[in-house]
Amino acid sequence: MKILIVGGGGREYAIALALKRDKSVEGLYFAPGNGATDELGTNMDIKDFEKLAEFVKKEGIGLTIVGPEAPLVEGITDIFRKHGLAIFGVSKEAAKLEGSKAFMKDFLSRHNIPTAKYIQTNSIKKAYEFIDTLSAPIVVKADGLCAGKGVIIAKSKDEAKQSAKDMLSGESFGNAGKNIVVEEFLDGYELSIFAVCDGENYKILPAAQDHKRLLDNDEGPNTGGMGAYAPTPLANDDIYAQAEEFVIKPTLKGMKEEGAPYTGTLFIGAMIVNKKLYVLEYNVRFGDPECEVLMPLLKTSAKELFYKAAIGRLNELDLEFKDEFAVGVVVASKDYPYKNSEPKPIISNVKNSADSYAAYAGVTKKEGVIYANGGRVLVCVGIGKSIKEARNRAYDLTKNISFEGAKFRNDIAYQALK
Ligand code: AMP
Ligand code: GLY
Repeated sequence: MKILIVGGGGREYAIALALKRDKSVEGLYFAPGNGATDELGTNMDIKDFEKLAEFVKKEGIGLTIVGPEAPLVEGITDIFRKHGLAIFGVSKEAAKLEGSKAFMKDFLSRHNIPTAKYIQTNSIKKAYEFIDTLSAPIVVKADGLCAGKGVIIAKSKDEAKQSAKDMLSGESFGNAGKNIVVEEFLDGYELSIFAVCDGENYKILPAAQDHKRLLDNDEGPNTGGMGAYAPTPLANDDIYAQAEEFVIKPTLKGMKEEGAPYTGTLFIGAMIVNKKLYVLEYNVRFGDPECEVLMPLLKTSAKELFYKAAIGRLNELDLEFKDEFAVGVVVASKDYPYKNSEPKPIISNVKNSADSYAAYAGVTKKEGVIYANGGRVLVCVGIGKSIKEARNRAYDLTKNISFEGAKFRNDIAYQALK
């Protein structure tokens, strides 16, 4: 089977490597891919979804897998389905769970799914009144997509009110902030929990932990994620059971009842407070860098998993994972996350193996040389029998692949090794 992967980050690179382990995968295409995915398949420069669907038909591509949220929010799935194509990814309607925080919170509330106490409003008066009922810290969120920057954790009521005001006036985030969510602060530890869903059935994956801050000890500004590992021992059987019973099942049932059956990856951004699981947010796709550590742990064929989910037959699949751990260390460019950095050539003597691999993200290719093109450039992933072994392998890789200005955190997976 030929497969198209939509996206061009480390997540899509990791999905491609996992797919290639299945010998029945005959060819991979990327739209748009990056400067390293052309070594795994063919990069396509087709942005228009109708044209892409035509291409998929013409080429006889049997499955399309969508990595990032943007094409899902823009409705790629609906267009491909209209053409009768098998696609793994949520519909435009279901993508609202990520695209609108207000929609997401109201959905959680309608279906009694545990989450922080909140209001969603476009009224400054209502926001202030609710802030007065809470104690600091207080969380203020812009409703729309803001590339991970739309969440303010205010240290006082005054700061919360100022943030609410700046968002509602359009000053902070434009239209994305014209509606806001104000909520109580939950004090616990975070987990990333994933379920692959086919509208009705689901398969839960090993829980991961991301590291959102730029610097060691969770200091510095927020980023898209500086590293991840899985499975995390911080998720025990009880946490998995809570995720299934109180979140995944009611979410699938609720989405179906509301006319938007959920076919794709459900990413639960969870906070565990006193052993109880709360939903902070949903994403409608795999996390990045979480995906890079989950894909190598798959024992079952990735193609079977995504194809069965896309055609609504996940119940036929017995999903198995290796009895191993994976740790991923993000290597970012010099000025990340503040501004773009100059492209720099990557010097590497890394060979992908079952023990470790480099997932390329922010890279371009010029005359056969791969350049770090800014942002999160690549993820060094180690796999091992213990978190420690996996982590050592990941950090060993960082010594063998580098570019000018490269930086990474030195403490990925610290919560599991404490
Ligand atoms: P979100 O985009 O909603 O996941 O928020 C981004 C980050 O802000 C989360 O990963 C948390 O670290 C933090 N956060 C969001 N909401 C809350 C909350 N209610 N309590 C504590 N931290 C939060
Ligand atoms: N690593 C978090 C995310 O992909 O949103």
